[in-house]
Amino acid sequence: MSVFSRRGAAAAIRRPLDTVPALPCVDDLVASFRPTEPLVCLRPATIVDAAEKFVAAFPGDTLYAVKCNPDPAVLRAVWEGGVRHFDCASIAEIELIRGMFPEAGIYFMHPIKSRPAIAQAYTLHDVRTFVFDSMVELEKIIAETGRAGDLDLMVRIAMPPLGAFSDLSAKFGAPHEEAVSLLRAAGAHALRVGVSFHVGSQCMDPLAWRRALVLAGSVIAEAGVPIDIIDVGGGFPVAYPGMVPPPLGAFIAEIESSVEALNLPSMPHLWAEPGRALAAAGTSVVVQVQGRRGDALYINDGIFGSLSDAGAPGFCYPTRLLRPSDAASHGFACWGPTCDSNDFMRGPFMLPEDVSEGDWVEIGQLGAYGTAVRTRFNGFDRAQTVEVRDRAML
Ligand SMILES: Cc1ncc(COP(=O)(O)O)c(C=O)c1O
Repeated sequence: MSVFSRRGAAAAIRRPLDTVPALPCVDDLVASFRPTEPLVCLRPATIVDAAEKFVAAFPGDTLYAVKCNPDPAVLRAVWEGGVRHFDCASIAEIELIRGMFPEAGIYFMHPIKSRPAIAQAYTLHDVRTFVFDSMVELEKIIAETGRAGDLDLMVRIAMPPLGAFSDLSAKFGAPHEEAVSLLRAAGAHALRVGVSFHVGSQCMDPLAWRRALVLAGSVIAEAGVPIDIIDVGGGFPVAYPGMVPPPLGAFIAEIESSVEALNLPSMPHLWAEPGRALAAAGTSVVVQVQGRRGDALYINDGIFGSLSDAGAPGFCYPTRLLRPSDAASHGFACWGPTCDSNDFMRGPFMLPEDVSEGDWVEIGQLGAYGTAVRTRFNGFDRAQTVEVRDRAML
């Protein structure tokens, strides 16, 4: 059987990782198969390790943010690492998780959902937790669940920019006064009520959670509603070239002391929704250089493929040339394979100066919002996925 699988076609089966036969390594695969399409190299052991560390460190329930990377192999590794709860944003994600893990906790954390999605989540997939940031959405949830009395209702509070690489409050979240009203309204319908927020993705500063929890605390105090759950969202950062985050423990310590400082009448359950922190280091992509013009390489993957964050957001990734070279390291920009001139990544991608047409380059830390957002634009969606035994590239 081929070691490769087309993206999305991998069987959604549960398989303990210790039954997986010895995995190949990236260099051997490239030497044997000489791939002319991007090769997504998934590192299950790295994801298991990241999940285990997060679950052990976080003083509450860890909900993996499925949107970050829904590849069944990633989900299996996250489960293997001890995650039993999943933050889903669509009915397709809910179906995927329920199909793979019948006993998993599933949380519908998109603040604006379609009515059929709410009804199906509740009646077909046993989802009891719904987030909302408006009265209209609360009314939808109540109506579509048949005024169910067994719901966990979570108010998503908007946050000001808190220094994260990617702000997530422009689109979702209720401002303070509205959040107060929503919390009071939810109290009348819910089995349990909670608040949630997201400080923004790749947030390097633990104090962002302190500021967020102070704001959440002021909403809770003004609403005067007993709070069962505080969901501190995702945003936990990982390393990229030029970005070395503080250790996870610094974020957890800040969250714990900030929740304690709220002095709530009873200690709420804590939830977190990490995506990037569990999945980023677990995937690299091997690309082939198809041309070189000065300091710019033309490669066979780009912003419409696995490298969207290397485009306008300007993320840098670790890179290595898959052949020996004594040439000095040099910073390259890259053009992706499509004809769109936005398909440009300024990098710098650090590679030996003598990199040239036909070379293979491995680009790491692409497991979060990388392979998951590939498009078919211009016919460049022929990447294959393989599981490898290599360690993370950073
Ligand atoms: C509601 C919600 N939770 C969690 C996440 C995961 O965030 P991160 O990957 O930064 O941990 C996201 C990302 O968009 C999100 O929108």
